[in-house]
Amino acid sequence: MSSLRTRLLAVALLPLASAAGLTPSLPLPLHPRDQDSRPSCKAVPGTPGWPSPAAWVSFNESLAGGLLQPPPPGAVCHPGQATYDPTACPAVQAAWSTYEFHSASPVSIDWNQWANDSCLPQQGAPCSRQGYPLFVVNASEPRHAQLAVQFAKKNNIRLVIKSSGHDYIGRSNAPNSLSIWTHHLRGITTHASFRPRRCGVTVEGTAATVGAGMQMWDLYNALDALNQTVVGGGGKTVSVGGYVTGAGHSLLSARFGLAADQVLEMEVVTPKGELVVANECQNTDLFWAMRGGGGSTFGILTSLTLKTHPTPRIDSLLLTIATTDVASPRPILDMVAYVLSQFPDLGDAGLSGYAYYFPAIANPLDGGATTVGGMFMSAALQDQSPEVMRRLWEPVLAYVNQTWPGRFVVGYQPKSFPSFLGWYKENYDTSQAGLNSYLGSRLLDRAALTANLTRSSEALERFANGTIATAYLVSGKGVWNAKPRGCGNAVLPAWRRAYVHATFGIDVPPLDPAAAATAKRQAKGRVAALRELAPDMGAYMNEADAEEPNFQTEFWGSHYKRLLKIKRATDPDDVLWCTPCVGNERWEQVGDRLCRK
Ligand SMILES: Cc1cc2nc3c(=O)[nH]c(=O)nc-3n(C[C@H](O)[C@H](O)[C@H](O)COP(=O)(O)OP(=O)(O)OC[C@H]3O[C@@H](n4cnc5c(N)ncnc54)[C@H](O)[C@@H]3O)c2cc1C
Ligand SMILES: *[C@@H]1O[C@H](CO)[C@@H](O)[C@H](O)[C@H]1NC(C)=O
Ligand SMILES: *[C@@H]1O[C@H](CO)[C@@H](O)[C@H](O)[C@H]1NC(C)=O
Ligand SMILES: *[C@@H]1O[C@H](CO)[C@@H](O)[C@H](O)[C@H]1NC(C)=O
Ligand SMILES: *[C@@H]1O[C@H](CO)[C@@H](O)[C@H](O)[C@H]1NC(C)=O
Ligand SMILES: *[C@@H]1O[C@H](CO)[C@@H](O)[C@H](O)[C@H]1NC(C)=O
Ligand SMILES: *[C@@H]1O[C@H](CO)[C@@H](O)[C@H](O)[C@H]1NC(C)=O
Ligand SMILES: *[C@@H]1O[C@H](CO)[C@@H](O)[C@H](O)[C@H]1NC(C)=O
Repeated sequence: MSSLRTRLLAVALLPLASAAGLTPSLPLPLHPRDQDSRPSCKAVPGTPGWPSPAAWVSFNESLAGGLLQPPPPGAVCHPGQATYDPTACPAVQAAWSTYEFHSASPVSIDWNQWANDSCLPQQGAPCSRQGYPLFVVNASEPRHAQLAVQFAKKNNIRLVIKSSGHDYIGRSNAPNSLSIWTHHLRGITTHASFRPRRCGVTVEGTAATVGAGMQMWDLYNALDALNQTVVGGGGKTVSVGGYVTGAGHSLLSARFGLAADQVLEMEVVTPKGELVVANECQNTDLFWAMRGGGGSTFGILTSLTLKTHPTPRIDSLLLTIATTDVASPRPILDMVAYVLSQFPDLGDAGLSGYAYYFPAIANPLDGGATTVGGMFMSAALQDQSPEVMRRLWEPVLAYVNQTWPGRFVVGYQPKSFPSFLGWYKENYDTSQAGLNSYLGSRLLDRAALTANLTRSSEALERFANGTIATAYLVSGKGVWNAKPRGCGNAVLPAWRRAYVHATFGIDVPPLDPAAAATAKRQAKGRVAALRELAPDMGAYMNEADAEEPNFQTEFWGSHYKRLLKIKRATDPDDVLWCTPCVGNERWEQVGDRLCRK
């Protein structure tokens, strides 16, 4: 029985293997083999060393059938594709803009460009598997991830890790790869206090051990039932895997620290294929690096233990300061630069939230009949009161009124919530996926925000470039004074001085290389405006320009040297590789292949 199934599967896999063997469409440059005769590129179908169909079949058997070969989800819209299904296509088209769709798929990702626009759910667009992984391991237990790492290492196959696929910098997908899909590493166990293994200490306070595929919405709901919450992100489907390894900012981080600062222990599959526990007493280098050093670099996180907190009461404020007098952008920019200059003091008083500058845009309140410019903020205080909120804003609004008399209209909508989850249900991130989007960002400290308002107004103008830009007030004392277990972690040190994480995104049409090139060039110029304002800060890798110049310094600062050393020791063969990631300097993408430099 087993051998018959094995043979049938082998036959089924054969056509794919031989057809895929033709995929490297570009003439490949000759890569001289290294002296130790390590292969110069990662294997692709058709090259010597690519596993035989029988090897894939037995790999699948070792995974109890968990090896997938998913078609691109957009293929249902393309006549000629095996999975073409005109009745299924409209639903995929409609769901393409939702985060839920991409995070539930073994291969789909949010931002089209990272799959090279290779199978959009639109008739007339090209569709092939070219931009997607060849095989996916549905890792529902750590052992599956171990087997995948061992198989990829042994066979020299490019390996990627996908959880939700939300990554803005393209790390969760690659062509010609084997992908470990961590979405089904689930589960949550709560603790009244926690004893890191082999430590002999008890960390006082509540904690939760969660699977690495768990998503914010899962965590908030499970913990709210216990009147607790966790430092988590704004998007419901963001998963802990990429979020925590990247640092993780939150409405609550200015009080409790970043998500990476909450970690008490991790379970990790190393690039050598071992399953290890990392905490302040064992595998301490890995523990340090996996908290801020970035996803898909040091290992595959399978589960982790995070501190949890009694849920705060939230007093929120939706604040709008806007004008229809948009003839000149300068007073609007000056007003926003002034309000931003107050963020350090507001943050010190406990305020956090998400602010948006908008230049002349169609007024949403009158269906676009008028044009408005100004700012909007979703602000929050924890365990304080609406009166405190009002007292914080009174002098700021009075200054705006005095300085630009009669120019701005203020909308002030306070609301109180008994729990973080209550607030979150009305204020989670409702942005859209399924776009071609290019980001840029910068962390800003007090000096950058307050030193010279003329200068910061001009920098804001260049950074926003006539579009909406954000200033997230998500850092502050809690982040600066955080005491991550085990004497620190790898989070970019600039976070410990920052108040604001400022971002923008440039959306362009898919399948338009010229528009993409322009967007990338503009992103560089726009980020440069804030780099000049805050030269010693840096950028938050999870929400940054994927081609940030000097990313090693901008994403990790003085930690880079140690991170690189740990990467070399943990992953001497570069089983995990991504860009822009720690230690990726020895390889480059050549067409759809990954080759040694
Ligand atoms: C709607 C939305 C809202 C957001 N809100 C916030 C926010 O409030 N705060 C914030 O800090 N960020 C936020 N982000 C950014 C978010 O932190 C990044 O997109 C992050 O990369 C998401 O991680 P993921 O695991 O969900 O995504 P994926 O794309 O699946 O993974 C991201 C990276 O982590 C790696 N990775 C994933 N799982 C693992 C694992 N188990 N082990 C090792 N590596 C792994 C992947 O290989 C990839 O490199 C938001 C993003 C979106 C789309
Ligand atoms: C792996 O095995 C399962 C169960 O036998 C099967 O459904 C699946 O198609 C196989 N995967 C591949 C890639 O052949
Ligand atoms: C992945 O594995 C999980 C857990 O076993 C299972 O529920 C799910 O259906 C699998 N997904 C796919 C696409 O095979
Ligand atoms: C949570 O808080 C509510 C309101 O104070 C209380 O009634 C409930 O018992 C608490 N639940 C738990 C699990 O502590
Ligand atoms: C704005 O200032 C004017 C005086 O210049 C004053 O009459 C008015 O009440 C102020 N409005 C607010 C909301 O403070
Ligand atoms: C503030 O910045 C502006 C614009 O860059 C500059 O012209 C001015 O000299 C600066 N003012 C001070 C006091 O440094
Ligand atoms: C936006 O950037 C482009 C390219 O750098 C520049 O030409 C243009 O003037 C900028 N527009 C605004 C409104 O700043
Ligand atoms: C992306 O797609 C384009 C157009 O099909 C193709 O020319 C290019 O080689 C692809 N890039 C990669 C990295 O596969």
